[in-house]
Amino acid sequence: MKRRKMAALLMAAIMTMGLVTGCGTGSTESGTANKENSSSANISSESKGTGSSTTANESKKTTGGSGKVLVVYYSATGNTKAVAESIADATGGDTFEIEPKEPYTNDDLNWTDDNSRVSKEHDDESLRDVELKTTTVKNWESYDTVFIGYPIWWYVAAWPVNTFVKNNDFSGKTVIPFCTSASSGIADSGQLLADMAGTGDWQDGERFSSGASESEVADWVKELGYAK
Ligand SMILES: Cc1cc2nc3c(=O)[nH]c(=O)nc-3n(C[C@H](O)[C@H](O)[C@H](O)COP(=O)(O)O)c2cc1C
Repeated sequence: MKRRKMAALLMAAIMTMGLVTGCGTGSTESGTANKENSSSANISSESKGTGSSTTANESKKTTGGSGKVLVVYYSATGNTKAVAESIADATGGDTFEIEPKEPYTNDDLNWTDDNSRVSKEHDDESLRDVELKTTTVKNWESYDTVFIGYPIWWYVAAWPVNTFVKNNDFSGKTVIPFCTSASSGIADSGQLLADMAGTGDWQDGERFSSGASESEVADWVKELGYAK
């Protein structure tokens, strides 16, 4: 059996497990993107992705927060934006949207098309250095805690976030990753970003389903000790 076909079967199994265990979302995605030959989304991170939202919950540190909060996020289709806004509401924090200079169209995001922008970027990591409108946040130094959110793309953080992370100094800041996905867990996506950043006190993150409710997000913020 060809590798791509095997990978597709594996993903179908993951999606089914997600639905059975309640990790699935019933979101509008008809399935979860799946590609072979990813250097960062290899088999081991794929299996970590399976149901690892539970793992993230279990190992999460309760940080407790004081000081100013910034919620940075990238969102291609609005799901992560909604979660980011709920976090900002619950914490009383500010938001900053990561915006690619060339926004992703629906065609660009079509992971089932081998020739789409995301597919090409996925297959060739050198194409993932997405240029952003800006990486500069006004009064960046004034923030003590940065929540950073992204959709999961092939088991890792959507790569426009990489550019933001590589171009900012997180020294002295607590950083809390969060993501939305159809069914995959947050896995080691936050750790990969922490490695790229090289600075900041990065915490275990949290995964939300694509259609997460405001109260679900508010409960998490409260649990962390960041509710205003
Ligand atoms: C290119 C691409 C790859 C994706 N890969 C995954 C994946 O590996 N696992 C998963 O559960 N969902 C995957 N999804 C679904 C998104 O993570 C999910 O729809 C997310 O909530 C989108 O967030 P946004 O609306 O903020 O862009 C993928 C979506 C796209 C467009």
